Amino acid sequence: ALAASGVRDLAGKRIVISAGGTREPLDPVRFLGNRSSGKQGVALARAAAARGAEVLLVAAHLEVPVPPGMQVREVGTALELADAMREESAGSDAVIMAAAVADYRPAAVAERKIKKDVTGDTLTLELVRNPDILTGLAAGREPGQVVVGFAAETEPDRDRLLQLGREKVARKGADYLVLNTVGWTDGFAQDRNTVIVVSRAGDIVSEAAGSKDQVAHRILDLLS
Ligand code: CTP
Ligand code: CA
Repeated sequence: ALAASGVRDLAGKRIVISAGGTREPLDPVRFLGNRSSGKQGVALARAAAARGAEVLLVAAHLEVPVPPGMQVREVGTALELADAMREESAGSDAVIMAAAVADYRPAAVAERKIKKDVTGDTLTLELVRNPDILTGLAAGREPGQVVVGFAAETEPDRDRLLQLGREKVARKGADYLVLNTVGWTDGFAQDRNTVIVVSRAGDIVSEAAGSKDQVAHRILDLLS
């Protein structure tokens, strides 16, 4: 609604938004990935640009096209995303981590295709933890900069979901955490979304349901 009405309440602000899902290579032809389509992050970028913000979209394997009117930096892995966010967040007014980041990456990437005749009937992968990008951004927050995270949880109970969200936002030190429930069918690659936004203090500061564009506008209301 705001976009259609031409409100440019984010004019003069630079907003860096990550979207999509990282992929961690195993060998030249395989990766560990996740089901994030990038739709909610791209909707945020589109809505922020429509409201006058200068937007940089840090894109990890998007399944949707990049909207016009913004800068884009493409990344593949969590480590590449970490570098991009650290560099691009400098001097920005807000940073939004909508991307689904791989928590772990293979400890080693095979130079050549992993072959069954070598690995046999079972294969155990050793994984190592990726850095927590959001925690790093929050810890290095510049004065006045707003840091927003997302949490997709499979917890269907609202109170327990809220509890997870409050613990997560406090642990990470972000200003806001956008919570939603995902499952085998809900959340990923859908056109609609239902979210609860909690602040670092644990307060519910927003609740929104609707198209991913509508939800994006409600989240951006927190930055205007
Ligand atoms: N995130 C991040 N770096 C990571 C993992 C997650 O920046 N290595 C960010 C995500 O982009 C998201 C927020 O942290 O904005 C929450 O991600 P989530 O996966 O829900 O949290 P985790 O701390 O990884 O906890 P969990 O064990 O529930 O996956
Ligand atoms: Ca995670």
